[in-house]
Amino acid sequence: MSTPLHGNIALVTGAAGGIGQAICRALAAEGATVALHYHTQQDSAHALAAELGGAAFEADITEAEAAQSLVERVVGELGGLDILVNNAGITIGGQFVADMELADWHRVLDVNLNSVLYMCKAALPRMRERGGAVVNIASNVVNTLPGGAAAYATTKAGVVALTKVLSKEEAEHGIRVNVVSPGIIDAGMGRGALARRTPEVREQFLNSIPMRRAGGSEEVAAAVVFLVSPAASYVTGQHISVNGGDRTESYQ
Ligand SMILES: NC(=O)c1ccc[n+]([C@@H]2O[C@H](COP(=O)([O-])OP(=O)(O)OC[C@H]3O[C@@H](n4cnc5c(N)ncnc54)[C@H](OP(=O)(O)O)[C@@H]3O)[C@@H](O)[C@H]2O)c1
Repeated sequence: MSTPLHGNIALVTGAAGGIGQAICRALAAEGATVALHYHTQQDSAHALAAELGGAAFEADITEAEAAQSLVERVVGELGGLDILVNNAGITIGGQFVADMELADWHRVLDVNLNSVLYMCKAALPRMRERGGAVVNIASNVVNTLPGGAAAYATTKAGVVALTKVLSKEEAEHGIRVNVVSPGIIDAGMGRGALARRTPEVREQFLNSIPMRRAGGSEEVAAAVVFLVSPAASYVTGQHISVNGGDRTESYQ
């Protein structure tokens, strides 16, 4: 069995979520030792860590000190850090800016964007010791930009920009930084969003996607694995959409 990530220690945030679980499984299948970060889903994170032979770590990464402590715990317990996948995220849908609760705006910024900065700021100095790869998870919302998605879309566009800047800053340190934007995925928040639509609206929406279906979490994970693997050794600063070709501007 080929295990190109053997010897690599990978930290995945939001590891107990729908897409996070698939990313952890795929990284472990390629031979990585996986550190699973969770916030509230303690039981799921520990169960998956046991199954994959990894370790689970709690943190509220909207706090810079907590992100720093998370990285130090992973490095201390597992012996280093080679791969960071910033996957944790939340969405609040349907609030137009004129009616938006500012607390929601700040919450989405904290979880989706500030946490990515905190995690990178904590992890990069440790990753520079032997080089590595970062993959940030943004969203196809940066292509579609629907009304009602101001907070979510702004944070994910920020993640894309941050990724590209970081790729230039870290190249000389042997760290590649890329971003993956999933379209609608049948897992986690995407599965919830699909379930909330009527069957007719769901069908209409899925038919608007060129590939006419939702994606699978394993299809997102496959892109992440490629980007962190030696096969992508000359790939940095890239934005890969895993979205079935969906670039529809504006649906709700
Ligand atoms: N599913 C989709 O269709 C889709 C589409 C585009 C982009 N995405 C992106 O993919 C990523 C994963 O989403 P998902 O669908 O797998 O959603 P999910 O199942 O809801 O998972 C989100 C994860 O974020 C973590 N999280 C939330 N708040 C946190 C906080 N304050 N501190 C630390 N962790 C926190 C959660 O941890 P706990 O559960 O442990 O609390 C959870 O594991 C997100 O960045 C999302 O924006 C998803």
